Amino acid sequence: MTNPLATQIADLKLSNPTMLAAGVLGYTGLSMKRVIESGAGAVVTKSMGIEPRTGYGNPTVVQTDCGLLNAMGLPNPGISHFEEEMKELNKLNAPTIFSIYGFSPEDFAEVAKIAVEIGAAAVELNVSCPHVKKAGAQVGSDPSLLMEIVKQVKSQIEKPVIVKLTPNVTDITEIAKAAQKAGADAICAINTVKAMAIDPETCKPILANKYGGLSGTAIKPIGLRCVYDIYNAVDIPIIGCGGISNWQDAVEYLLAGACALQIGTAIAFQDITVFKSVTDGITNYLEHKGFNNLKDIIGLAHKT
Ligand code: SIN
Repeated sequence: MTNPLATQIADLKLSNPTMLAAGVLGYTGLSMKRVIESGAGAVVTKSMGIEPRTGYGNPTVVQTDCGLLNAMGLPNPGISHFEEEMKELNKLNAPTIFSIYGFSPEDFAEVAKIAVEIGAAAVELNVSCPHVKKAGAQVGSDPSLLMEIVKQVKSQIEKPVIVKLTPNVTDITEIAKAAQKAGADAICAINTVKAMAIDPETCKPILANKYGGLSGTAIKPIGLRCVYDIYNAVDIPIIGCGGISNWQDAVEYLLAGACALQIGTAIAFQDITVFKSVTDGITNYLEHKGFNNLKDIIGLAHKT
């Protein structure tokens, strides 16, 4: 019997559309193993670069009424140190996607090459972190620089290249089109929304970095709008990300045009059982509405 929840991103086959989003529980092989065992169709690591990076000082996270605000500063041990963590993950039947960042197209290409050498099933280019200078959104808002990054990465690896976009631009579809033109295999939309919090007691911004990225339920309507618009602009697969915390959110993203879904902040507010509750909810929805499989609903909101 065919699996109604099976989905595909380029040649990456997933048993269900849920994926662990970059930045949450993606530091160690064991934590990602737990996420896969709890039902995720794939996992994405914390963003990694060539060199180890300490990141910003504390506070790095603020809880808001409807999400989390974070500015970690891309802390990571350096891509090569992740080889050890892959030992746990290589044994499992779900792809590990490496989120990578760089400060130049050459950086991205080098990190991507190492990622694939140590076992990445695909790479996700973090060209969307809203607050690290000369990386993230600063490179991902410039279509020609983004194209150069994608081209250089594509020239180094044969695995799928996913480009994670920032919503902090005037027209996200222009950036998505540039990524596709340069050879990207898929788009992930969206990374966090640039935001801040101020403490009335100290009269100062709370995050050490002042600015951070907002994630969680507050940004779901923004992510949904971005996926809907990108679906009309490109013909490569789209991974929806931003505020997915239950099956209804997931179905909305599928109807908007996403073929897979990343979940991150909901893990902090619920726990890793969210992957199973979302996939169970999608299955029940398909049955209840008389759809055969996921493909029947991907992008359906465009046809009504
Ligand atoms: C961080 O490490 O500060 C977050 C990374 C991101 O937003 O992409």
